[in-house]
Amino acid sequence: MVKIDTILGILSRQIASCKRCPLYKTANHSVPGEGSSQSSIVFVGEAPGRKEDETGRPFVGRAGKLLEYLLHSINLRRKDVFITSILKHRPPKNRTPKPQEIKACSYWFVKQIAIIQPKLIIPLGRFGLEFFLPHAKITQVHGTIKEIPGNRGLRIFPMFHPAAGLRSLKRKKILFDDFQILKHVLDNEHFSLSH
Ligand code: URA
Repeated sequence: MVKIDTILGILSRQIASCKRCPLYKTANHSVPGEGSSQSSIVFVGEAPGRKEDETGRPFVGRAGKLLEYLLHSINLRRKDVFITSILKHRPPKNRTPKPQEIKACSYWFVKQIAIIQPKLIIPLGRFGLEFFLPHAKITQVHGTIKEIPGNRGLRIFPMFHPAAGLRSLKRKKILFDDFQILKHVLDNEHFSLSH
C-alpha cells in the first residue's frame, strides 16, 4: 500500500510547480502544509505570509507562534496535527486573496483533505470558513461544530485566525476559550489524533 506521506509528498511537489494562478510568479516558496498525515484534525488558515514564503513552512511567523501556544494549551504539538492554508503561495505584500486565486488554489486543499480524510477541520479565520460555508460569519460560528452538507459527515470547528488574536486581546481570549471547547470535543468524542 502506498503510504499517505508519500502521496502528500508527491502533492507538495506538484504544488511547488503550480501555475493555476499567477501567485507563483511573486512567491519565493510554495507552502503546501505540514504535520501528521495520520491526524484526524486539520487546521486551515488563509495564505502564507513573509516568513512562510521564506521558509516554505506554514504558520512560522508571529501568528504561528500564537497557534503553537494555543495548541500547547490543550497539550497538542504541531507535529500531532496537520496545518495548511487555503492558498499555497503568498499574495504580494500579504494582500487579501482574490476570489479567483482561492478558487484555483483550493483545488490542492480539496486533494489534501481527500488524502488525509480528517474527522474535523478547523478553519482559522474567514477564508477557511467561507470555503466550507460561504455565507457564514466567523464572529457568529466560531467555537461551534458545523456539519458540511453533502460531505459524508465532515464537520468543521471554525475559530478566529491567530493573527486576529495578535491584534485584539479580546479575540486572543476567545481563541483560548475556543481551544478549550475543542479539547472537550476531542476528549468527549474519543478522537484519536491518528486514525
Ligand atoms: N497565516 C496563514 O493563514 N497561513 C500561514 O501559513 C501563515 C499565516
